[in-house]
Amino acid sequence: VLTNATKTSRAMPHVVSSVNEAYQWVRAQQARGKTVGLVPTMGALHAGHLSLVDRSIRDCDFTVVSIFVNPKQFNQPADYSVYPRTLESDVRQLAERSVDLVFAPSVEEMYPAGFTTHVDVEGVTDRWEGASRPGHFRGVTTVVLKLFQIVPADRAYFGRKDFQQALAIERMAADLNLPVEIVVCPLVRDHDGLALSSRNVHLSSDERRSALVLSRSLRLAREIFSTGERDPIRLRDAMLRLLADEPTVQLEYLAIADPTTLAELKRIENGAVVLIAARLGSTRLIDNEVLGNNDE
Ligand code: PAF
Repeated sequence: VLTNATKTSRAMPHVVSSVNEAYQWVRAQQARGKTVGLVPTMGALHAGHLSLVDRSIRDCDFTVVSIFVNPKQFNQPADYSVYPRTLESDVRQLAERSVDLVFAPSVEEMYPAGFTTHVDVEGVTDRWEGASRPGHFRGVTTVVLKLFQIVPADRAYFGRKDFQQALAIERMAADLNLPVEIVVCPLVRDHDGLALSSRNVHLSSDERRSALVLSRSLRLAREIFSTGERDPIRLRDAMLRLLADEPTVQLEYLAIADPTTLAELKRIENGAVVLIAARLGSTRLIDNEVLGNNDE
C-alpha cells in the first residue's frame, strides 16, 4: 500500500492500479506523438530490472513499469507466496530514474471472476523451463499479452537472463502480429558473478557462495569453447565435474542448445546457448551464457 506522501511527492512516478487509467494514460501520450516503453516486472527490483528501465528511458519519450506478481506463472503455490513484494521501495527506485508511470494492479484487476482465456506458445516452450515448470510459460505469455493490451507501448523490454521466456515472447509477438517492438537486453551479474534475480534474497550466505558455481561453470564453458572445443558431451562433462564441487547445488538441467529452437546440439556452433537450472535448498535459480561471438 502506498502512503499519501509516496503518491503526492513530485519526484514520484504516477502509480495506477486500474487497467483503464493505465490504458488512457498511454494513449494520451501517444496521441501527442510521444513514444512509450514498457518494462514488465514482478517487482523486487534489482539492477537487472533497472538496466531495462534505463534502456527504455534512453529509447522512448515515456517509460511505464508494470509491477505484478502474476499468480498464473507460478507452478508452485509456495514459490508464489514467498515471492518478495517490495512495492514502496520499488517505486522509490523508479522515482530516482524518473520513470513516468507505474502500473501495479491487483490480482482481481488482472484476472476478474470469469477469466478463462490463455495464450499458449508451442515449440520453444516445450523443453527446459517449460518441462520443469508445467504451466509456467502459459502464465507468462498470458499476462504479457494482457500487459501489452493495457499498456499499448511502442517497445517492451525483457532481460536475457530469462532466455527461454524472451524467445516465447518474441514468438508470441511475431505469431499474433503484436504492434510492439520486443527489445531483449543483456543479463546482469552481481560483482561476484551471480546472475541477478529477485529470488537471490532467499539464499543464505552459504547457499549464495555455493550458487556461484553456476556462473563459474558457464565461464568455464565459454573458456573451453574459445579453445576450439565443439563437442557438447565433452563441454558438458567438464561443467558437470565443476558443478559436482558443490553438492548442495541440485542441478535440474544443463543444456547446450540452439539459440532459436532450444533443441540440444550435436555440435556446438557459434551463438549456442548454455542453459542451466538448479536448486539450492528451496530456491530455484536459472542462468545462461551464449558461446562465442557473432562474427565467427
Ligand atoms: O520476467 C518476469 O519478471 C515475468 O515473467 C514477467 C515478464 C514480468 C511476466 O510476469
